[in-house]
Amino acid sequence: MRIDIISVVPGLLEGPFSHSILKRAEEKGLATVRVHNLRDYAGGKQKQVDDYAFGGGAGMVMMIEPIAKCIEALKSEREYDEVIYMTPDGKKFDQQMANELSLKENFIILCGHYKGVDERVRLKWITKEISIGDYVLSGGELAAAVVTDAIIRLIPGVLNDESSALTDSFQDGLLAPPVYTRPADYEGMKVPEILMSGHQAKIDTWRFEASVRRTKERRPDLLEGKEI
Ligand code: ADE
Repeated sequence: MRIDIISVVPGLLEGPFSHSILKRAEEKGLATVRVHNLRDYAGGKQKQVDDYAFGGGAGMVMMIEPIAKCIEALKSEREYDEVIYMTPDGKKFDQQMANELSLKENFIILCGHYKGVDERVRLKWITKEISIGDYVLSGGELAAAVVTDAIIRLIPGVLNDESSALTDSFQDGLLAPPVYTRPADYEGMKVPEILMSGHQAKIDTWRFEASVRRTKERRPDLLEGKEI
């Protein structure tokens, strides 16, 4: 998988991709993330990437030309499955969307800033618009990092324990059950006996029931229309 991220503040994305799981995915050759500075595609001395909105009002709008140049340059190098725009008015990101995107090969993620991009960019190039929640960030970079992390960890071989992504919260429409490690007794707070019994079938049943209980308590909306 290759993900090309277009940003006006590429420095914001340096941290997330140079650590931990994402770094390991790169090193193993399972995923490549490249961040492109939109200003490198801007014309003039000022390297201008935004301008005043037609019709007035506060806030700048990201211009078409630098974005067009950047997207077309990338497209001339390889085929892309999706050109994604991070925006609070996009489709709400969830685990199902992460699963779907993890099956794709190449995509571009455009990070919005200021008042967003000129609408014609969305009409001409964007194939998917994603929001990570009903709140407004100062730019799409942190949202792009969230989406990229959620996708890359699903690629087979990225996580050490292959089954670990399959037992995440949401993967089966339920929240994950509680987990414990040593010590078995912390100041009188004991780990449930069953987890130390070595009886795998009973442990699986306990975990499933704990998942259902937790989902009922915290996210009953996830169980609507489901028979459990
Ligand atoms: N850009 C600004 N806010 C955002 C959000 N909530 N999701 C995705 N991109 C954004």
